[in-house]
Amino acid sequence: MTAADLPAVEAIAAQVHPGYPEEAAIFAERLRLYPPGCRVFAPDGAAVLAYLVSHPWHLLQPPPLDSLLGALPDLPSTYYIHDLALLPQTRGSGAARAVVQALAEHALASGMSNMSLVAVNASTGFWERNGFAVHHEPALAAKLRSYDAAAQLMIRRLG
Ligand SMILES: CC(C)(COP(=O)(O)OP(=O)(O)OC[C@H]1O[C@@H](n2cnc3c(N)ncnc32)[C@H](O)[C@@H]1OP(=O)(O)O)[C@@H](O)C(=O)NCCC(=O)NCCS
Repeated sequence: MTAADLPAVEAIAAQVHPGYPEEAAIFAERLRLYPPGCRVFAPDGAAVLAYLVSHPWHLLQPPPLDSLLGALPDLPSTYYIHDLALLPQTRGSGAARAVVQALAEHALASGMSNMSLVAVNASTGFWERNGFAVHHEPALAAKLRSYDAAAQLMIRRLG
């Protein structure tokens, strides 16, 4: 992902995640803070059909929806996937599985022992097929409800 991709990323987010609105500044900040964690899928070199945003973070401390991070931690304890979104015509292509695997290899090579995320939009089954498991953390219940009523913290161990 480059800054030039941000309008397309925002358009995909608006289409795919109407129930989870985030300001354009959120995507721009993630890209500025951690470019290697921000990816787009543009198979013909033109239209952006999917994006993924991720970065090192604190385990069991998912950022609230639509919030700026400020800075990344000096000592991260998880590799956090903020969002993965494919336009409908791109789903089922294997692109999602491929980018999650690429991210797992990047996170492991960066010294991380796990990846984590907040699964929304009934995506828990997809993440389970990609090695993640639901982690029940009562202290996080209120924050997870700020995403949606069924949001779940999920963790994948690496290595
Ligand atoms: C979730 C998403 C990224 C998955 O990508 P996809 O291309 O549809 O998934 P894939 O085709 O690679 O599916 C891989 C596997 O997960 C399964 N799967 C996909 N979405 C699923 C879901 N919502 N629930 C259960 N299983 C699911 C597929 O059946 C497939 O299983 P298989 O390996 O046994 O055949 C995509 O559907 C999407 O962008 N959805 C909207 C945005 C979203 O919800 N993002 C996640 C927010 S945390």
